Amino acid sequence: MDNDIKLIESLRSQLHRHNHNYYVLNAPEISDREYDTLLERLEQLEAEHPESYDPNSPTLRVGSDISEGFSQVDHIYPMLSLANTYSIDDVDEWFARIRDALYGQQFAIIGELKFDGTGISLVYEHGHLVRAVTRGDGTHGDDVTANARTIRSIPLELQGDDYPDFFEIRGEIVLPFANFEVINNERLAKGEAPFANPRNAAAGTLKLLNPAEVSRRNLDAYFYYLLGDNLPYDNHYDNMQAARRWGFKISGAMAKMSTLEEVDRFIAHWDSERKQLPVATDGLVFKVDSLRQQLNLGFTAKSPRWAVAYKFAAERVTTPLRFVSFDVGRSGTITPVANLEPVLLSGTMVKRASMHNADIMKALDIRHGDTLYVEKGGEIIPKITGVVLEARKAEAAPVEFVTNCPACGTQLTRRPGEAAWICPNHRGCFPQIVGRIEHFVGRRMMNIDGFGSETVAMLVRNGLINNAADLYSLSADMLRDLPGIADKSASRLIEGIVASRDVPFERVVFAISIPGVGETSAKKIARAAGDIDTLMAMDQASLCAIDDVGPGMAQAITDFFADDQNRAIVERLRLAGLSMQTQIADAPKGDALAGKTFVISGVFTRFSREQYKNMIEANGGKNVGSISKKTDYVLAGENMGPAKLEKAGKLGIAIIGEDDFLAMLPQAQAENP
Ligand code: IVH
Repeated sequence: MDNDIKLIESLRSQLHRHNHNYYVLNAPEISDREYDTLLERLEQLEAEHPESYDPNSPTLRVGSDISEGFSQVDHIYPMLSLANTYSIDDVDEWFARIRDALYGQQFAIIGELKFDGTGISLVYEHGHLVRAVTRGDGTHGDDVTANARTIRSIPLELQGDDYPDFFEIRGEIVLPFANFEVINNERLAKGEAPFANPRNAAAGTLKLLNPAEVSRRNLDAYFYYLLGDNLPYDNHYDNMQAARRWGFKISGAMAKMSTLEEVDRFIAHWDSERKQLPVATDGLVFKVDSLRQQLNLGFTAKSPRWAVAYKFAAERVTTPLRFVSFDVGRSGTITPVANLEPVLLSGTMVKRASMHNADIMKALDIRHGDTLYVEKGGEIIPKITGVVLEARKAEAAPVEFVTNCPACGTQLTRRPGEAAWICPNHRGCFPQIVGRIEHFVGRRMMNIDGFGSETVAMLVRNGLINNAADLYSLSADMLRDLPGIADKSASRLIEGIVASRDVPFERVVFAISIPGVGETSAKKIARAAGDIDTLMAMDQASLCAIDDVGPGMAQAITDFFADDQNRAIVERLRLAGLSMQTQIADAPKGDALAGKTFVISGVFTRFSREQYKNMIEANGGKNVGSISKKTDYVLAGENMGPAKLEKAGKLGIAIIGEDDFLAMLPQAQAENP
């Protein structure tokens, strides 16, 4: 009983993290299938333990892809997801359920490809594209109309004359494999991290703030769902053929079927044929064709009963385990890694695969000399999914998780309720010291060029640096004679260090390696606190009040700042001249904007959207997502969407720029960033 509750909590926190990795960071660590398995287990446990109810449980929401920099729009019809199945048997069961629910009526099933990109909703009025919105949290999403307009396969004006005056069409934005490769090669050449897969690349591209760059990347779009009050036909198939005539890209793989045998044959066919397709697919979708029958079957809270997804099995190979090693992360987290006999899997050679933590490793029950199953699903990251038991030697001993740090020998510790074992020797453990400095200099943190992991390790080994603050005491003279550092690179390193003083406070908070605080949380924490002294003085309750910060993270933050050495490093960074406050720390507050409603649109140069939002609210104004008669001002940056511009014009709403806006605040003494 108690154990169940603990498991519920652990599953919730894991799922929250995976959600964030997937929707916000576009960097999933586990496959969709693994995610679904965790979610299902949680759903089951929550059903057994109603006393564990939590309105924030990951089972009670669909993930969100909403990001800053776009205005948000309500969906006319919620954007739901599909129930997933992983075997022909599951699809057959769904088919039988439909047959029973329709009480012997004739029915047709439409089979389609499940495109592995990012969902999009397009709205057309009188044959013109008026709006493109991402899925977001299913209820409202980001208005990405300007970017969608650059996608050539999205018709801006429709052909023919039999389309409804007003309708919505849903589809998937994808990045074809060929373009994916081009973009990743460009990124590698520029020293940027490549996208993990075409889905992340498509989602990331659609959220770029520069439509010209979106256009250059050659996204594509396939459509599969028409919604509206006056659709031309009473069935899905014919409506999709009509949409094709209007100019939409509708997959030719779509097929009408009426028996289970046909459904099974469709699955068998596409299970192998999909490998020839130019775009990524992660499964098939089956839908009841008749719209009347769809209506009768209806929806659950999360997905339609009249449709089901069949997910393709991940590619799987077997290979012998050489040994298990244990990586030490910058916060001391120990990660078990299976070192494998190199094996080719979906086009890449796999030598290592993370097993994440002791619990997962234990569940896999890996023994010395085992042969393992390795899988790669939609993700590029390989996973160990099991052991080939038939190949196990009778006397094979289990691989034990280490009890001491493999780098410094310190005994490992584990916090109650957490999966990770930690090396607590944060100050003395070499990979942790190097890892934190490497993180600090990283592109998304202080962006100090020239410090690869080799260089950082060498400087630590030579006793020149031991923490991030030491970087600011380095001089070109100290570096010049070190192995592998030429005259020129010594001064380049120093220039990079000096330039890092201009990095905004938000990134400083991310750079200092507070355990568990990622890029997005760091931003929110920095903006909520405003400056380092406030942040260091914040207690659990005020930290938990920040969006994104739970009790675990709040504890990690207070623990971090309770440590004298961390405080000393922060003080030295302050003395070195790093930004220790957000740039609008002294922006005016008052009621200058009382009763005024603003819509923010476009890209800004002086402050971020979030900062403008805060300024509006701090001065009594209201910030809303879309333009209406009640809007007083549109605060417009660059690249404001033309639809918005037109609407504001029509309604006679004042469109103001950043300078006009700042002039409305008392003395407008907000600093220039
Ligand atoms: S139908 C109400 N058809 O899969 C059902 N979705 O897991 C609407 N997807 O959010 C979705 N290919 O982004 C449908 N042929 C297809 C699809 C498809 C890909 C995506 C879509 C949806 C997700 C559901």
